[in-house]
Amino acid sequence: MTMTRNTLPKNPVFVALDTNDMPAASSLAAGLSAFVGGIKLGLEFFCAHGPEGVRQVNKQELPLFLDLKLHDIPNTVAAAVREVSWLEPYFLTVHTTGGAEMMKAATTAATEAASRNGLQRMHLLGVTALTSLTPAQCQAIYGRMPEEQVLFLAEEALNAGLNGLVASAVEAPALRAAFGSDITLVTPGIRPTGSMVDDQSRVMTPEQALRAGADYLVIGRPITQALSPVAEAKRIAADLRPRLRTA
Ligand code: C5P
Repeated sequence: MTMTRNTLPKNPVFVALDTNDMPAASSLAAGLSAFVGGIKLGLEFFCAHGPEGVRQVNKQELPLFLDLKLHDIPNTVAAAVREVSWLEPYFLTVHTTGGAEMMKAATTAATEAASRNGLQRMHLLGVTALTSLTPAQCQAIYGRMPEEQVLFLAEEALNAGLNGLVASAVEAPALRAAFGSDITLVTPGIRPTGSMVDDQSRVMTPEQALRAGADYLVIGRPITQALSPVAEAKRIAADLRPRLRTA
């Protein structure tokens, strides 16, 4: 199968290129393109290089996960969704704590921008509770423990028309039990055995995360900071191969 930025990758790993260094991001994207399902560009890269930088770094036209975690009033979020629709991201994130109206506005904007301009419609993912939050921090901020908070926000997000969720793999079984197999579940906070936890808190290994119900895995530093990012991505892909899609 020829991979384009709009086909679902068989490899579930989106590598997070969290850097402001364009040559480093480009060389990681090029080197890793055969061993990951797509690339994730987030706030650091986007704030440094903007939409033009995204086009430049994704020369391989891998599926693009634009992790901008939009969170503002509905009108502003809808406008931002329209602007980034030109980049044809496969995934774009919005914060579910922005509320139902904001998420509905994002959904409508994504659909309208795609049909008006003949673009591939992006899949909108709702960020629930950041995987860096400990249960105690989650309780302090939201008054709920992570699982309860994630389930509450997930319901809001899916009712508002979002296509899937970003959550920790720790919450994946509860999300699958509550919402079934139709939703797309993307899990950061992935740490292959032996890697550093860094600032993450609710973590799982790649295999554990898929077994728990994740569809896609976001992996950043364990690959990008490895002595050989290519070797690490290859190792992860080989470990996951028995569990990969066969389509
Ligand atoms: O380096 P590491 O694997 O921890 O990178 C995780 C990536 O996933 C980062 O780009 C971070 O912004 C993102 N992310 C996260 N937790 C969420 C949503 C996104 O860690 N809830």
